[in-house]
Amino acid sequence: MTTAEEALLRPNAIGTPLVRLEGSDKVTGTAPYAVEHPVDNPTHFHPLQSRIAVGRVHSIDTSAAHAEPGVLAILTPDNAPRLASTGNGELEILQSDEIAYRGQFLGGVIAETPEIARHAASLIRLEYEQRSHDVKLRADRGDLYKPEQVNPTFETDTAQGDVDGALASAAVTLDATYSTPMEHNNPMEPHATIACWTDDGELTLYDSTQGVYWTQGTVAPLFGLEQQQVHVISPHVGGGFGSKGIPHPNVVLAAMAARLVPGRPVKFPLTRQQMFSVVGYRTPTIQHVRLGADEQGRLSAIAQDVVEQSSKVKEFAEQTAVPARTMYAAPHRRTSHRLAALDVPVPSWMRAPGECPGMFGPEVAMDEMALACGLDPIEFRVRNEPETDPESGLPFSSRNLVACLHEGARRFGWHDRDPDPGVRRRGDWLVGTGVAASTYPVFAMPGSQATIRTTPEGRYTVLIGASDIGTGTWTTLTQIAADALEVPVSEVDLEIGSTTLPTASGAGGSSGINSWGSTIVDAARRLRTRLDEHGGTVPSEGIEVTGEIPENPYTSQYAMYSFGAQFAEAWVNTDTGEVSVPRLLGIFAAGRIINARTGRSQLLGGMTMGLSMALHEESVLDPQFGHVVNHDLAEYHIATNADIGSIEVDWLDEHDPYVNPMGAKGIGELGITGTAAAVTNAAHHATGIRVRDLPLSPDKFL
Ligand code: MOS
Repeated sequence: MTTAEEALLRPNAIGTPLVRLEGSDKVTGTAPYAVEHPVDNPTHFHPLQSRIAVGRVHSIDTSAAHAEPGVLAILTPDNAPRLASTGNGELEILQSDEIAYRGQFLGGVIAETPEIARHAASLIRLEYEQRSHDVKLRADRGDLYKPEQVNPTFETDTAQGDVDGALASAAVTLDATYSTPMEHNNPMEPHATIACWTDDGELTLYDSTQGVYWTQGTVAPLFGLEQQQVHVISPHVGGGFGSKGIPHPNVVLAAMAARLVPGRPVKFPLTRQQMFSVVGYRTPTIQHVRLGADEQGRLSAIAQDVVEQSSKVKEFAEQTAVPARTMYAAPHRRTSHRLAALDVPVPSWMRAPGECPGMFGPEVAMDEMALACGLDPIEFRVRNEPETDPESGLPFSSRNLVACLHEGARRFGWHDRDPDPGVRRRGDWLVGTGVAASTYPVFAMPGSQATIRTTPEGRYTVLIGASDIGTGTWTTLTQIAADALEVPVSEVDLEIGSTTLPTASGAGGSSGINSWGSTIVDAARRLRTRLDEHGGTVPSEGIEVTGEIPENPYTSQYAMYSFGAQFAEAWVNTDTGEVSVPRLLGIFAAGRIINARTGRSQLLGGMTMGLSMALHEESVLDPQFGHVVNHDLAEYHIATNADIGSIEVDWLDEHDPYVNPMGAKGIGELGITGTAAAVTNAAHHATGIRVRDLPLSPDKFL
């Protein structure tokens, strides 16, 4: 028997490297993504997008498009369904002729084939009245403002003590500005929807979403519907990385288009280029970091002031300065966020919004400060390890950053590292190593329910409207259910990914396992109580129970975070400036890992995306026209196999009894935090050149 087969038969399946239960369906093409769902008599949609950044539509000439055989209907602001006003300027599209950013949807063509729709859309003549636009983020803009809060509900600014005074009297200080560029989520499966209205006015959406109930809850009120009149089906999702967390205008547009062809489903998969305009992205960030320390390398002051962009149609405030509130001890501290509302599409979630860019500036600054204090960067971090959460004063439920740093150092071979930068040459390459920390908070989302049914035949059906965005939810929730029911995994049938199932939060903030798992454990506990009432046997009519996510009393008593340490080896070519990373190591402390195989994939994927951020990713926004010019995978390079050498991932055996009944912290986002800083620190160690703005493109080393 293979390990995976054994796991299927064994109770207490948590921790085993079970293979994905839906894996063979995926590789045999029988696990449908959104537009692959078989529907009767489908139609196909191609959108119209604004080619100016700001202004209004003066006229739309659709006559040539209408004349094309196979064109069924053309959607424009003139015939678009009226939407209820919900205050969501991103989604309330086609309600006027105003244009607020380049790429904004203005309508589209519904046709018998995708090719006809696309061709007909190209025949539509749009005339505009153009006004001036402004898409350039700078820290010295006069119109920066302070948002009420930052994503999702963190305080915008924090301050303790006297940072300026502490910096003035510190033995060692650092004052530097770091920046990260605009970046775009690029899941393998594009954003895609099949929308269909029924005769009685209900809407069905096969949608590539991170949360079927999130989509339902957002779309229903826009169309004046009750939530239960919108049905969302999404059993398999080919990645989202946050961009499918909240619905973007493409979902609304698909539903609008379907209104024009009653009884016929409309398929609307976005092209890769369209994804660079309307489904969210990571804001560029400008991070002013100041640190002060005494002669022993103990921090007296930490300050991080962040400037980033939002849009005019809807605010999104990335919480970039939030991790600096927790990472290191210092009596004097401040953080702030300021935004510029530009004529751009709405920024949104991208894997570890906040923590990902927020662990770049400060973790490079820690490297710079360690050097300035004459300390090894690991020793410098250890000296500034807080006893309790500096922000809340609460004890940590578990905090094993130091253990990760030490274990990583041992595995990476850090002990004989020569601290001098720019002195190790191998042929045409300068070689260096670097380290940075990782962190991500433990989030639980409210509102999930799970139903478990069992029959005298001894099978257990677990129903919850959760999502698998490629992370392994199908498998891990089955393992959690089997563990809580004390039965083998092979006796559990899980159903997720539909609003026909009990209500659930979505996949976001690495909260899935915490939220859905706790809910399933609660349902399993109720089921076992009911079984006991029946003397341990299932009555002929079966048993059905519904559990809900329990209140966790410890969330107000402990600060809950996962941590990690990432080590990088960087080679920088002395002729071309190219940076190559042959080796990455990540050691994490994230509570109990539910499935060693899918868990490793999550952390490995996060680090790969972090390496991609370090070396390549940058959306280039043309200031003259207001669009991303490198809007496809040919020009927006994402790390591929050729860019990756060895990536090693492991974790400490961490037991945290406070986070949830499984003892598991989230791992979807932890792996991307800190990677870019570790690589940047390694590139400095190689060359002596300190780059403070990502990505580490060759020009910065020449
Ligand atoms: Mo994640 S960016 O919260 O989906």
